[in-house]
Amino acid sequence: MLVTGGAGYIGAHTAKALAEQGYRPVVFDSLRSGFLPAVRWGDFVHGDIRDGRALREAIAAHGIREAIHFASLIEVGRSVERPDLFWDVNVGGTACLLDALRDCGVNRLVFSSSAAVYGQPEGLAAADLLSETLPTVPTSPYGDTKLACERMIAAYCRAFGLSAVALRYFNAAGADPSGLIGEAHDPETHLIPLAIAAALGTGKPLTVFGQDFPTPDGSCLRDYIHVTDLAAAHVAALDVELPAGAFEAVNVGTGRGWSVLEAIEAVERALCRPVPRTLGARRAGDPPGLVADPSRARTLLGWSPVRSSLDQIVQDAARWHADQRYGRSVKVNLEGNKETISSLRG
Ligand SMILES: NC(=O)c1ccc[n+]([C@@H]2O[C@H](COP(=O)([O-])OP(=O)(O)OC[C@H]3O[C@@H](n4cnc5c(N)ncnc54)[C@H](O)[C@@H]3O)[C@@H](O)[C@H]2O)c1
Repeated sequence: MLVTGGAGYIGAHTAKALAEQGYRPVVFDSLRSGFLPAVRWGDFVHGDIRDGRALREAIAAHGIREAIHFASLIEVGRSVERPDLFWDVNVGGTACLLDALRDCGVNRLVFSSSAAVYGQPEGLAAADLLSETLPTVPTSPYGDTKLACERMIAAYCRAFGLSAVALRYFNAAGADPSGLIGEAHDPETHLIPLAIAAALGTGKPLTVFGQDFPTPDGSCLRDYIHVTDLAAAHVAALDVELPAGAFEAVNVGTGRGWSVLEAIEAVERALCRPVPRTLGARRAGDPPGLVADPSRARTLLGWSPVRSSLDQIVQDAARWHADQRYGRSVKVNLEGNKETISSLRG
């Protein structure tokens, strides 16, 4: 199983889930934002998805038969400043991977897509569920690149007999209960790790963006999915029988929205300390609600979340952030020298 981006947050959790189900993951990662210590389940190939030759060599050397494609640039704000990088890595890299898979006879793919493909759905209340049949109108270059990848993959399926599932993740959060792997984005832009860092004093006070959304407490609603549930959805997507040429887009969320303030309260409960915060204006393009209709995942993949209560997510994340392994090493090294950081990352 080729796992591009398998040294990153969701990829590492999925590599663990794959190994536990008897797959042999082969992580292919540039270590741009991933961590070598997160590659614990299966082989590692250091490479860039824009390098077709390296991909073909890895596929041949490891006898790859299926692929999961996580490798991507992920920060929405950065995609507004540098759309060039996002189109190059996300879309150019996916094109390169698809060509390599086709040329090497690999005909099954699971792709990391995103709720960002929906943009700001019109005429829906914040807590309304988003189904896969809604129009896709992304509001950021990041979302544009994810939608472009979905369309490219669908076209390759039709033309070359690939079959693929694009999983549209909602807000991935939490950490593996083993404490071995967890979320370590740099820069971190996600609410739960930022709130934990603010409470632990390892990060800045949290900014709550927008208090006037049409929601019960005025902060926006998001659907948090535990990363181990998300990892299990990938295994389920591989198990689905799909005819050659089929392409399916499937939401991965819980169907329950939590407000920013509710998430902060959950962090305060888990850590028994306050989350220092300031109130800020709404950010451009932030929809009031993003909540998945998960029924297609249930019917097509036979998948439902089992660890995604907000309190469970926050407890697992808090444990990881208070006592993390490779993240702590990076933090220690940040105080010292940058050389060690880059060697940690490969
Ligand atoms: N984290 C979320 O909540 C979320 C939500 C929706 C979608 N996604 C998608 O899930 C996927 C994984 O996200 P994540 O949170 O684990 O991010 P991450 O940054 O932790 O992992 C991405 C991995 O891809 C690798 N990578 C980046 N560019 C590469 C390249 N050119 N060649 C090879 N490897 C490269 C990085 O080194 C890293 O290991 C991404 O495609 C992202 O768009 C994430």
